[in-house]
Formats: sequence, C-alpha cells, structure tokens
Amino acid sequence: MAKPNGAHQSALQHTLIYKVEVCLPLGRCMKKAFLPCCLSSSSCNSGSMDKTVVLITGCSEGGIGHALARAFAARDCQVVATSRSLSSMADLKNDPRFFLQELDVLSDGSVVQSVANAIERFGRIDVLVNNAGVLCVGPIAEVPLSSMQRTFETNVFGAMRLIQAVVPHMASGRKGTVANVGSITVQAPGPWSGVYTATKAALHSLTDSLRLELKPLGIDVINIVPGGTKSNIANSAIASYSRMPEWKLYGPYEAGIRARATLSQGMKPAPTEAFAKEAVARILKKNPPAWFSYGRYSTIFSILHYMPLFFKDFMWRRIMKL
Ligand SMILES: NC(=O)c1ccc[n+]([C@@H]2O[C@H](COP(=O)([O-])OP(=O)(O)OC[C@H]3O[C@@H](n4cnc5c(N)ncnc54)[C@H](OP(=O)(O)O)[C@@H]3O)[C@@H](O)[C@H]2O)c1
Repeated sequence: MAKPNGAHQSALQHTLIYKVEVCLPLGRCMKKAFLPCCLSSSSCNSGSMDKTVVLITGCSEGGIGHALARAFAARDCQVVATSRSLSSMADLKNDPRFFLQELDVLSDGSVVQSVANAIERFGRIDVLVNNAGVLCVGPIAEVPLSSMQRTFETNVFGAMRLIQAVVPHMASGRKGTVANVGSITVQAPGPWSGVYTATKAALHSLTDSLRLELKPLGIDVINIVPGGTKSNIANSAIASYSRMPEWKLYGPYEAGIRARATLSQGMKPAPTEAFAKEAVARILKKNPPAWFSYGRYSTIFSILHYMPLFFKDFMWRRIMKL
C-alpha cells in the first residue's frame, strides 16, 4: 500500500487510505468480465496484447502531467502526451513511447483534432487523464470576472470537453478509465484561492456523478487529488497574479494574497515523480479507487474535510491573519 509523502504516515493515515482504497471499491466488485487485462495492477501490458493507450493533458516539463506521462510509459503504456506547445515536451520528442500532440483544452478544434489523431494512430484511447489546470489567486470580491471565467473554462469545461470527445470512443469498446485531477483545497477551502477551489469542487462533483453515469458503459472514473506537489504551478500563478488589478479593498493583505500563489511549492512539496508513480499505480488498477489523494498535507486535509466549519474558519483566520 502506498505511503503518501514519506515517513510521516500515521495510523490514522493508514485507516484513511484503507477506507479510500479498500472500502470504496468493495461495492464495485461485480466487475464485468470483459474488462481488459491491460488495466490490471501488475502491468498495463500483458503478453501479446496491445499497449494501453493513455491521453494526458497539460504535459509541460516540470509539471505533474509530464511526470504522469513518464510514469505511464514506465508501466509500458503508449502515451499521447499533450500540451499547449510541443516545445514544452521537447525532452519526450524522440522517444517512441510518446505521441506528442499540441492540445489546448479551451479549444474545441484542438481537442477534436488531437483525439482524432490518437484514435487514427492507435485505434482507441484506454485512459484519459484530465490534468491541465491553472491556479487563480485573489480576493473573490475583486478578481475580474474574465479571470474567474478563464479558470472555470480551463479547469472544469476543459476537462468536460475532453470527456465528451473521448468517452464515445471508450463506450464503443465498453472499457476505459477517466482520471480527473482535482485538489485537496476542496476539503478545506481557504481565502485567496476561492475561485480555483470552486473550479476543483465543481470538478470533484462532476467526477462523482460521472463515475455513476459511466459505469454502465464499462468506464471507470477516478478522482486524483494532489496535495502540495512540486511543479510549475506557482510560476504560472505568479505570472497571472501580476496581471491582476490593484486590490481596492485588500491593500493590507496584498503580501498574504500574493503568497497564496506559491503556497503549494513553499512547504516541502511531494516530489512530482513520486506523486506520478503512485497515481499511475491506482489509475491502472483493474478496479481503480474512486479517490486517490497524495502529496503534502493530503492527510491533514482529509481530516479537515470532516471538521466543522467553525473550526476550519478559525484555523484559516489564524493562519492567514484575518
Ligand atoms: N502542484 C500542486 O501542488 C497541485 C495541488 C493540487 C492540484 N494540482 C493540480 O494538478 C494539475 C497539474 O498542475 P501542476 O501542479 O503540474 O501545474 P503546472 O506545472 O503549472 O502544470 C499545469 C499544466 O496545465 C497546462 N495548461 C494550462 N492551461 C491549459 C490549456 N488551456 N490547455 C492545455 N493545457 C493547459 C499547462 O500548460 P502550460 O505549460 O502551457 O502553461 C501545464 O502543462 C492541475 O490540475 C492542478 O490544479 C496541483
């Protein structure tokens, strides 16, 4: 069983993981016989069977998507690695395990084209990982609506665009796995990242409904929920924060608000490769768990999820000096 983030695993953490990985899938034990052995836990390629084809969004070098691409390839999968720019995946270019595609989750045309290219090349997509995402930092009362919309467009509708493009292909083969990358912030929403957290809360909710709706089509759905994990997310967040207007009501809090952009990277984030290896192991399981969380503070947030609101408010006020 995986150990989230090193040596600090408590008995409680064991219990949580047991609940998440063992109890949740128990109700799903009537797995259909036609489920491919290429999605077994030992390896994604078995004998003469074709490789499992995995499409991942947001695979820029240094991020979680890139590490996921490498971890799937290490498990003998064929990876359709996508990002907004091929240059951000240049290191994967000459490796036949990767089929590189430029894909912007905001664009219908881009998504349709990349999915068509993957289907034409490999005949199917077995696993879809909706990883692409952006952070949005700022006080909800003042973040421009255009920034809010772009965050929802990327984190929520971008994932839905991929799902609607890929699921019909999976359904025709009556097999497949969809993995959506959420966030632990949903379990205890704090200040200054409310828009981002709302997008991930929407994604978590959609993921839970999708899991039920896609079950009859033979498709599994898993929510991959990172805690703090090393990536480029803070750099991107700082870049978009620098385009925010000057806050009118929150001048005294500016430093704290800006610091939220780098929070996940500031406090010993989990190594990207470790996150990816553990996530891929869950996604490729014959009966994937409904939920997999890993990374810095993932255990603490799992506990906070069950705490009363007054406690969470108290905690955030103390931490953020509100
Ligand atoms: N790192 C953490 O601590 C953490 C914690 C919780 C959740 N997450 C989630 O993990 C996922 C991966 O993030 P990360 O931490 O690896 O951050 P990252 O290094 O910034 O990677 C984000 C990826 O999404 C891509 N992307 C952004 N907008 C896109 C668009 N319109 N179309 C296609 N791709 C787009 C980025 O492309 P560009 O390189 O072109 O910008 C990049 O490849 C995100 O969903 C994030 O919310 C991360």
